[in-house]
Parts: sequence; structure tokens; C-alpha cells
Amino acid sequence: MSAGQRPGVQAAGPSHVAVIMDGNGRWAQLRGLPRHEGHRRGLEALRRTVRNASDLGIEILTVYSFSTENWRRPAAEVSFLMTLLKHFIEKDLTELGAAGVRVRVIGGRSDLAPDLRRLVEHAEATTRDNTGMTLVVAFNYGSRDEIVRAARRLASDVAAGRIDAGAIDESSLSERLDTADLPDPELVIRTSGETRISNFLLWQAAYAEFVFTPVLWPDFDRAALEEALTEYRRRERRFGGVSEPSGRNVGVA
Ligand code: IPE
Ligand code: IPE
Ligand code: MG
Repeated sequence: MSAGQRPGVQAAGPSHVAVIMDGNGRWAQLRGLPRHEGHRRGLEALRRTVRNASDLGIEILTVYSFSTENWRRPAAEVSFLMTLLKHFIEKDLTELGAAGVRVRVIGGRSDLAPDLRRLVEHAEATTRDNTGMTLVVAFNYGSRDEIVRAARRLASDVAAGRIDAGAIDESSLSERLDTADLPDPELVIRTSGETRISNFLLWQAAYAEFVFTPVLWPDFDRAALEEALTEYRRRERRFGGVSEPSGRNVGVA
């Protein structure tokens, strides 16, 4: 059991929060605005959330910004979302860096345009030694794709004789995921009222607590974040064990 996996009601934390930022399109639709306006406001919500999370002592914030399935959207929307990410990295990087934020990007890199890939590499390299909050941006990210890429690496390590097939364990796989050096999230928040995981952190969220809020992502504010953290601290985490009081009653009579 890792450090982030303390059974029982949580007195502190979570230290790693992951967010499925959903509802930009509906936010715009409700106001008679085009979907891209929702995405623009969603970016403001992201900026706000980074500040709030850091203020509230969260050590790692992972945000789902574009999934491997989001390529199915109309070309104009996909291209707007790509431009938005580019803009976020270029424009916000200096400010994030100055605030001590360490930026990481997870997801497949080979499908990204070369200029975007270079920007991502630059953002990671220039903030690598920062000691503040880690912001993990899941971009062109899909958990199944990530696991397949990790399995491919594992298979080539076996083929090359670097690892014995019989010696493969959970850490052999998790060490080859994009999140290799990151602890698992303790809390996953999804906005917009949808209650599904949509291919996000399937492996890493095995024992995460989930909080679903009806708030649409562009409206997500400090109060909504604090509410999710409070809800997390009310939960009793068991990791397959038994809770303390009932635990005393369990066993052979
Ligand atoms: C989340 O908002 C942003 C991305 C998935 C890129 P949506 O664009 O999914 O908004 P809805 O779900 O259509 O309202
Ligand atoms: C999940 O939202 C992906 C991101 C937030 C980036 P979607 O809006 O794409 O998910 P579905 O299609 O409703 O499951
Ligand atoms: Mg959506």
C-alpha cells in the first residue's frame, strides 16, 4: 500500500487530485453561444483551478484536456482545442514557472503536430526543477492507449532479455505508463453531471474516490473545489479491507 493509500476517513489530503473538465459545450449552448466560447471559458476555469489547487495545498493536479476519443469531434473544434493548448502553454508557461509550478504532459506524443510536440517538451524541460505544485496535463490521452504503449515497451524489454516474463509484476507495468513517477490520484472529480470515466486513468484510479458535480466546467470555482475536497474527507477508504468498527465484528465466531 503506497503512502497515498491510508485506510479510514481521511484526516488530510488529497495530495493528488485529477479532474475530468467536462461541460464546456453545454455551458455555451445554455447561453446560445458557439461551443468554442465554452472552451475559451473552460481555459479560464483551468487557470483559476491551478491557482486554487495550489493555494489549498494540493501537490499534484491532473487535468483531462483532450482525450484520444476527442479526435472524433468536428475538425474545426479539434483545431480550436489544439490552438487553445498551444496558447495555454505559450502564454501561461512563464507565469506558471514563476509560481513554481512543474508542468507535465501525459498522453500519446506521436499524433501531435511537431510544433505542439516541441512546445510540450519545452514546457516540461523549463519547469522540471520547480518545487511547487505539479500540473499534469492529459492531452491526446486515453488510458487504454497508455496501457497498450506500456505493454509494447514491456514486450520489447522481454524480447531483448532485459526482463523475464515471469518476473512481470504491477510495478513493471506502472513504471512504463506515462505517469511512471507520479503517485496515484486519491480523488477524481468530474464536472457537468456525467458519471463515467471516459478512458481516464483507468489503472491509476483503481482506488481513487470519485466526486461528481453538476457544475459545468467553465463555472467550476474555488467553492466547488473545496466542496469536492470536503466530500473526499468524509469518505471512508478501505482498499479491500474492512472498516474499523465492523472490522472488530468480522471473523470466525
Ligand atoms: C469538455 O467539455 C472539454 C473537452 C472534452 C475537450 P465538452 O466539450 O465535452 O462539453 P460538453 O460535454 O459537450 O458539454
Ligand atoms: C472527457 O469528456 C474528456 C475530457 C474532458 C477531455 P468527453 O466529453 O469527451 O467525454 P464523453 O464523450 O462525454 O464520455
Ligand atoms: Mg463532454
